[in-house]
Amino acid sequence: MESIIRDIKLAKSGHEKISWVNHYMPALNAIGDTLKADQTFKGKTVAVSVHLEAKTAYLAEVLHRAGAKVIVTGSNPLSTQDDVAAALVEDGLTVYATHACTDEEYFGYLNKALDHHPDIIIDDGGDQVNLLHTTRADAMEHLLGGTEETTTGVNRLHGLDKAGKLKFPMIAANDSYCKYLFDNRYGTGQSTWDGIMRTTNLTVVGKRVVIAGYGWCGRGCAMRAKGLGAHVIVTEVDPIKAIEAVFDGFEVMTMEEAAKVGDIFVTLTGDKDVIRKEHLEKMHDGVILANAGHFDVEINKNDLNDLAVRHFEARHNIEGYELADGRILNLLAEGRLVNLAAGDGHPAEIMDLSFAVQALAAKYILDHHAELGNHVYVLPHEIDTEIAKIKLESMGYHIDTLSEEQRQYLNLD
Ligand code: NAI
Repeated sequence: MESIIRDIKLAKSGHEKISWVNHYMPALNAIGDTLKADQTFKGKTVAVSVHLEAKTAYLAEVLHRAGAKVIVTGSNPLSTQDDVAAALVEDGLTVYATHACTDEEYFGYLNKALDHHPDIIIDDGGDQVNLLHTTRADAMEHLLGGTEETTTGVNRLHGLDKAGKLKFPMIAANDSYCKYLFDNRYGTGQSTWDGIMRTTNLTVVGKRVVIAGYGWCGRGCAMRAKGLGAHVIVTEVDPIKAIEAVFDGFEVMTMEEAAKVGDIFVTLTGDKDVIRKEHLEKMHDGVILANAGHFDVEINKNDLNDLAVRHFEARHNIEGYELADGRILNLLAEGRLVNLAAGDGHPAEIMDLSFAVQALAAKYILDHHAELGNHVYVLPHEIDTEIAKIKLESMGYHIDTLSEEQRQYLNLD
């Protein structure tokens, strides 16, 4: 089945992007060398449905070199980079992804990937798993299980698991330490600000930045906003996270209050309607609205449309919504994940860890699917620690080791 991409002639810059990131992904390289030598995935089909930019492409190539037939789609219409997709096709992978495709095309691509009846799926946000549980049961013929990249996808999986409806084992790659501690916190922290700054070309210093959600992503985003000189306000629904934000030195208030004072709003909750009509009505002229949570439902776009007398492209990737009294509220990247839809996603060194987890999670499904039930699992701690060791060594750091006496003293055996 032939690939569907924008234009194969874009491949050159895609190759450059992939070769740039692979230089900064030593852990994935080391793991990839072993997988390649063992031809771990020989004869297996792996469907990768993750934001299709250079780091994801490199993960797909690592799996390809390890013997897999790899089918790649994006996991969001705006995060696909057409040149990267073209480079993968030139390298012999099958790709169904185009930047800014319609929702119908997007789900069409996911369905096309399932037409290959994969043995393993690597999902990001749960759309592929959802299809398999609704309209595409036929595509589960060879399916051993899969892995999930992000918090929202893991939450959806837990919903299915609790209801006893999950039909195959899934590894919550997101829940490995080597994923969320670094990707969600430092990756989202840096790349969200990269996306906002390159899109707006405005200052962060001196601005009142409102961070909605003080989970792993929110913590990173607040930390980096502070470093950029912003006055940071946090909104939360969890009292413990709210205390943490206070003790980390941030102001905490309700969105109702924050709406009146904020200059830049960033939602990172995984929830919906975090910013809605009653908040939008209170915002001042020129505010910036951005989302870095998985789905474009955190800022209510219907409410924005209802309130606006007109909307227009204020700048590439910025939609200005003019209210009846002339105030303009600026929405970045259609309210989709700003770091991916208006940027290049997380830095390569961060995705090195996340995709090392993904590569070993795919191998874990292959090796252990027969012992696993239809539940959500986290990779064994030894695998997490092994990835951290490889990464640490690649960064030139050395740490102490426990003696036998110390292990006994700590009751570790
Ligand atoms: P998390 O579960 O650690 O944190 C979410 C926080 O939001 C929690 O503290 C929760 O109490 C809070 N929250 C929920 N509803 C709220 C509301 N209405 N108002 C204020 N706070 C609220 O989740 P994590 O890992 O931080 O992920 C957040 C979102 O970001 C998810 O959708 C996840 O999939 C996505 N994500 C995006 C990435 C990106 O590249 N942009 C990278 C990783 C995750």
